[in-house]
Parts: sequence; C-alpha cells; structure tokens
Amino acid sequence: LRAKAPASAGRWVVSFPFRDTLRRMDFRSDNTHGCSPEIVEALARAAHGSVSSYGSDPYTDRLRERCRELFERDVDIFPVMTGTAGNALAIASLTPPWGTVFCTPEAHIHRDELGAAEFFSGGCTVIPTDDLASAIPLAAVPACVSATNATESGVVLDPAAVAELSMHRLRVHIDGARFANAVAASGASPADLTWRAGVDVLVFGGTKNGCMGVELIVLFRRELAQELTYRWHRAGHRVSKMRFLSAQFEAYLTDDLWLRNARHANAMAARLAGGLRGVAGVEIVREVQANIVFVRVAPRLRALFANAGYDWPLFGDDVYRLVTGFGTTEGEVDQFLAAIPSS
Ligand SMILES: Cc1ncc(COP(=O)(O)O)c(C=O)c1O
Repeated sequence: LRAKAPASAGRWVVSFPFRDTLRRMDFRSDNTHGCSPEIVEALARAAHGSVSSYGSDPYTDRLRERCRELFERDVDIFPVMTGTAGNALAIASLTPPWGTVFCTPEAHIHRDELGAAEFFSGGCTVIPTDDLASAIPLAAVPACVSATNATESGVVLDPAAVAELSMHRLRVHIDGARFANAVAASGASPADLTWRAGVDVLVFGGTKNGCMGVELIVLFRRELAQELTYRWHRAGHRVSKMRFLSAQFEAYLTDDLWLRNARHANAMAARLAGGLRGVAGVEIVREVQANIVFVRVAPRLRALFANAGYDWPLFGDDVYRLVTGFGTTEGEVDQFLAAIPSS
C-alpha cells in the first residue's frame, strides 16, 4: 500500500498495516529521509543552460562567497557526494602518510569508513582513543585530531570543547555530517565552532539534513587548497557537473534551510525523548542534545525495536538508537509512542 506523506514533508512513504506501525515510523537514520523541496527546485533550475565544468561555474562561485559570509572569513570549498570522501580527503590534506590521526572509538572514520582516511592519505594510522592526552606522546608522528560534531552518540561539542581539541598543536578535522544539528543545538556561530576554535577543515554535511546528496569540505587553511584540489580531482570526487552539487548546497544555505531543518530534527528528537520518558520499560540512556535518542528497553520490547532496525550494540545489547530527521513529523513521533505496547 502506498500513501502520500503530508504535503509539507514532500516525500513518499510506504505504509504497512497497523500491526506494523513501529516499522512505518522510520527512526533508523537521518539518511533514510528524502530531500527538501527547495533542493529539488534548485536542481531543476540548475538543469538549464551551459556552464563551465569541474567547479568553475557560477553556482560554485556563489556558494564559495556564501560560505565566506557564513564563516566570516576566506575559505576554500570542495563539494563531494559522500561524507566518507569528504572526511578521507580532508584528513589526507592534514597528515603525511606516516602521520597518526586520533579520533574517538565511536568515530565514523574509524568504525564505518573501511580505512578510507588511511587509504586516501597514503597510509596514515588512525588511532581511536578516549584519552587524547595520553595517546599523543605514544605516536611517532602525531599529525591530526578528528572529531565529529554533533558526535555519533548525539553529543554537541560547544566552541570550548572544540578549542580543547586544538590545544594539542595538531591539525584538527571536524566530521560535520550533523554540523547543522550542532549549530542549531548550541546556538554557536559556524565560525566559533570551527576556525576560531582552531579547526583546519570541516566536512559540512548536507545529505542527512535535507540535501539529495552533497557534503562540503570547507578548508580554513588556504595554503593547503592547491594540494587538496589535486587530491579531490585525483580521487575522482571532483564532479564534472559540479553545478548540481553546488546548487544543492547553495539552496541549503539560503533562507537558513539548513538551520530550519536541523532545528526541526532536533525538536522531533526532544519530543520523542519526552514521550519515551513516560513509557514503562524504556529508559533514555544519554542526554538528548541533537537528533539522536538512545534507549535501553525491557526484554519484552527488544524484538520490536530490533525488527524496526534500531539496534545499536555499541552501547549494549539492550540499547537502541532512534534518529529523527528534517522530514520527521510530530504525528509520526506521536504514533510511534502510542504504538509501543504498555505491557
Ligand atoms: C558521523 C558520520 N560521518 C560521516 C558519514 C559518512 O557519510 P556517507 O555515508 O555519505 O559516506 C556518516 C554517515 O552516516 C556519519 O554518520
């Protein structure tokens, strides 16, 4: 059975019979959402006419200018289609092949990206650690710290926490797959959360938060721009019809779509967490700061949560992860809460 989602959500959902209500509300990931109508409209507008390729187009020029305004300084930008490519290329520009890159044990670059940073850098070592200060002296050539904001466990780093990372005199990379959620939650400016706190390169996420498929490498160290341009091209991530990536990100930054979407996603997580606090057999295990809710559930509910795809064994076999997105509706949250059996 196919049903149209509310017009405001602008996407199609597949609905199941009522007994499968828990499956219908999809809190598996912010990657399961479609994209904002503004992005589709921008792509349709960009489909007309001929422009130069490989990023020498007016869309990319305007996006660069917009980023310079947003970050309150000169930056170089490199649109890519995936966060993995963005992270790997950004990190490669911050470390020599013999350097060590430090990240948290839960970091996407460590757990999910299959050695992309190591590969693109020509062999750097990625060391996951919760104790940066102790790990750094053990490395032969400490090169870079990589942090995610908002983190994989939904924690928002404020400017002071980011600045602490840069106190080690290493280069700093931020995986900003959920950067919009972090800015929306912290209220800090993009500049304060990045270069003013010592960040060298940010991978600014678009895909999870309303774009069709684009992430933006924002480079604050302009002296690395030429090298990163070669890496970007050589890796096959300098898309010839760049206008379609840049047009998405330009629309994303227009009229604060990125912040509106992130604020909505964060608000839906707060609503979900608020409701779950009243459900017997469900315990919120981490403070909800952005758009991710981690819950420990009673044995009677585990199959339901597991079948819906919410397993998150990193925090324990009985812990599940629920993610809200720009397309999550209040109705979905409320229906989900109502559908959890009380006994
Ligand atoms: C924190 C984080 N960083 C990076 C990525 C990588 O994005 P992609 O799947 O586009 O390579 C993801 C994807 O889920 C992510 O959650």
